[in-house]
Amino acid sequence: MAPTVGLLTGGGDCPGLNAVIRAVVRRADALGYQTMGILEGWRGLLENKLEPLTLERVSGILYRGGTILRTSRTNPFKRPNGLEALKEGLKANGLDTLIAVGGDDTMSVADALFQQGVRVVGVPKTIDNDLSGTDYCFGFDTAVNIATEAIDRLHTTAEAHNRVMIVEVMGRDTGWIAVASGLAGGADLILIPEKPVDFDQVCEVIRKRHERGKYFSIIVAAEGVKIHAAGQVETQVRQSQMVDEFGHVQLGGVGNILARELEARLKLETRVVVLGHIQRGGSPTAFDRILATRYGVAAMNLVHKGEFGKMVALQGSQITAVPLSEAARGPRPVDPELYETASVFFG
Ligand code: F6P
Repeated sequence: MAPTVGLLTGGGDCPGLNAVIRAVVRRADALGYQTMGILEGWRGLLENKLEPLTLERVSGILYRGGTILRTSRTNPFKRPNGLEALKEGLKANGLDTLIAVGGDDTMSVADALFQQGVRVVGVPKTIDNDLSGTDYCFGFDTAVNIATEAIDRLHTTAEAHNRVMIVEVMGRDTGWIAVASGLAGGADLILIPEKPVDFDQVCEVIRKRHERGKYFSIIVAAEGVKIHAAGQVETQVRQSQMVDEFGHVQLGGVGNILARELEARLKLETRVVVLGHIQRGGSPTAFDRILATRYGVAAMNLVHKGEFGKMVALQGSQITAVPLSEAARGPRPVDPELYETASVFFG
């Protein structure tokens, strides 16, 4: 019987996941493997939810957002004997190899499995584009294009009403989407988690801009921006007190807090747009389809070569492989040079 590779997608979804799935299945078939889809991330192995991935099943999914395998933030470390249960799930389904597509949480579980002898390969994924070990994650380009189009649209209505528009975008620990879309959309100020926000400074930038005759402003803020107040610790704004199994809080609302401050201090009419999951939904850009496809093929090639414990990565324009543990090194901050360039246009 042909060896069977298990494939799962974990964590938040990203446009391009289906392109990875299609690429793995197509490459696996060409190399003489079968592919078994594990549904809903690690939950599928714990609860025995699997589905064979045939060539027919992956036909026509390249351009579709979401993931046909569905996803979850199930954390096996939070289950009694979770790691053992995963290994038993793999064995019970005749899976000798696993390809895990996900972010740092998914990779940390994949690495723990690898340390226990499981043959695992990783594929990097986070819309925030801040996974260590790779220069780019698929889905990010799509999110940046969506946010840029939104900023373009908000420009015309901001101009028409003499308003300040605050666009809140995704970015839990880092501001990659904010900086890239803000740069592309000509934002007048970009706020990112790497640089805690001081209200006095924000107001100063906008006040000076309006003093020199500008009658509208566009501010792009990552949802994870930390608010800094004299004598206080820096805090992120939470949308709810819910915490997921990996300990992540639900962020959101920093735009509204900022809007109230701006209106109170500068007397400028201000509106807030939270882009939210629109950034993660829908069809991937051509760039993301290509990157996701390259990752899927490369992951399957690693399996075939017997190179386990690695995550495929993009370094420069080359597809490479790094140890799975690289992904757990913490979020990769925004390139300071990129932020510097964007800040030339502030105010
Ligand atoms: O982890 C990436 C991310 O997109 C963050 O930017 C965002 O805060 C979070 O996921 C929201 O995801 P969900 O609503 O699916 O929990």
